[in-house]
Amino acid sequence: MKVLGINALFHDPAAALVVDGRTVAAAEEERFSRRKHGHRPVPFAAWELPEQAARWCLARAGLTPADLDMVAYSYDPALARPADELGLHDPWDELRQVYARRAPEFLATALPGLDPAAVRFVPHHVAHAASAAGAAPARDADVLVLDGRGEAASHLAARYSADRYPGTGLEVLAAQSLPHSLGLLYEDLTQHLGFLRSSDEYKVMALASHGTPRFEEELRQAVTATDDGGFRTDPVDWASLAKPRAPGEPWTQDHADLAASVQARLEGVLLELADWLHERTGNRLLTLAGGVALNCVANTRIFAEGPYDDVWVQPAAGDAGTALGAALHAAAFDGDDPAPMPGADLGRSWTDEELEQALRTAQVPFERPADVAEAVADCLAEDGVVAWFQGRSEYGPRALGHRSLLAHPGRAANLDRLNAVKGREQFRPVAPMVLESRAGEVFRRGPLPSPYMLFVHDVAEAWRDRIPAVVHVDGTARVQTVSAETEPLVARMLSAFADRTGLPVVVNTSLNTAGRPMVDSPRDALECFGSAPVDLLAIGPFVVRRPRTVP
Ligand SMILES: [Fe+2]
Repeated sequence: MKVLGINALFHDPAAALVVDGRTVAAAEEERFSRRKHGHRPVPFAAWELPEQAARWCLARAGLTPADLDMVAYSYDPALARPADELGLHDPWDELRQVYARRAPEFLATALPGLDPAAVRFVPHHVAHAASAAGAAPARDADVLVLDGRGEAASHLAARYSADRYPGTGLEVLAAQSLPHSLGLLYEDLTQHLGFLRSSDEYKVMALASHGTPRFEEELRQAVTATDDGGFRTDPVDWASLAKPRAPGEPWTQDHADLAASVQARLEGVLLELADWLHERTGNRLLTLAGGVALNCVANTRIFAEGPYDDVWVQPAAGDAGTALGAALHAAAFDGDDPAPMPGADLGRSWTDEELEQALRTAQVPFERPADVAEAVADCLAEDGVVAWFQGRSEYGPRALGHRSLLAHPGRAANLDRLNAVKGREQFRPVAPMVLESRAGEVFRRGPLPSPYMLFVHDVAEAWRDRIPAVVHVDGTARVQTVSAETEPLVARMLSAFADRTGLPVVVNTSLNTAGRPMVDSPRDALECFGSAPVDLLAIGPFVVRRPRTVP
């Protein structure tokens, strides 16, 4: 069975291809269109068909649209109700529904040869759920989905077992109806704090570490778990707590305290939702998806304080992941047994010959060192900044050692240096990658291994001064562990760096400049290298060096 998954309606348009239950390819449209999130997150532009991503998924597998058995679309317009009936103020929602109903025709136009009758609608939160529990390395798990909104809900709590519930795999135990939504609550706060809603929520989470949750009690009335496995989010008068911040204005302590208070309340409610679900199933593994599951601070609290032995989060937890989830769900529905996703590196890659040709086309001097991992470790040990472009690009928002910007973690100044390269706010942390075999020495509290950078860990006291660039203001770090088995090249680079410095850790942030999507193609990499103060580009087995300028 060949199933193409499509996410097109709310955020982060994406496509994914599942063949006989196995994930073959998945990519976000922004990596092709070079527009972050696929479009500006404003309602009247709130859809974009992932045409290029879909065509590439098919090409990767040597398929044509006519070869597809099914196209799974991660929204079911039959479950939707008018926005005002749902208690939402969204004057453009009607257009969105028209677009969803017409999706089969749009898709058939974008993918000539596709039979519109092959398009099947998958409920949005079922797609999120399948992207977590259906892609995780376990056959029986609980799943919590939390996002801004789906058709008429913002949450789903379920047990997922391919063996116990053949067909869909899901037993839904609770679902919270709109307008109550933890995702929309966080988006409202994001907007109040002067950031871009549906886009900059992770900045609010970083800002929260700079504050104390002194408004948490005031928020408790409005934001609270209910005894049916759901929750309530009543409207909050944000301005009565902290005055609105205009974009670009400096933030105040009140802003940080408000962010900390909402973050604390969110974590409290999530812990109650996890308790409720666990009481009903007794399962040992909880899987998470939906945009709220990108909140790695909350994820760690669920892991550290919640009732489950283990927590697994879909790396593309936002709406992009519903493309994969819809495809996995539709495949399972028709009898295929979904296999765990092989990793987050599901995007495009180029052969060494293609990379060499791209370098020749750009007419930049390059060399092929005996081992690119050693050459990169040399540069990093000398405090150089490295653009690292290797293998298939990542699905989801995190750079996981395939399209990364790397630096020495021992120099505190590298935080500001990388934030300057990327044009980011100075209050935001950069993250470490660490050899999986040594992670336990350096990082505590969060789950280990942690290959997808979806949890924060406490940095052990003895290491804080040794890797200051990656230690956030609250003593934590958002870690990616690197296994020599699954990521041999990255692990070799980390080992080579450890040999030179004694540090099994390297700073890792996504390879992009301000406001741009992550680098995907060799051309994107060269553009990024050409426009940012990066010392070395490691692209496949080749390196391009920036000549040291004399001051
Ligand atoms: Fe969603």
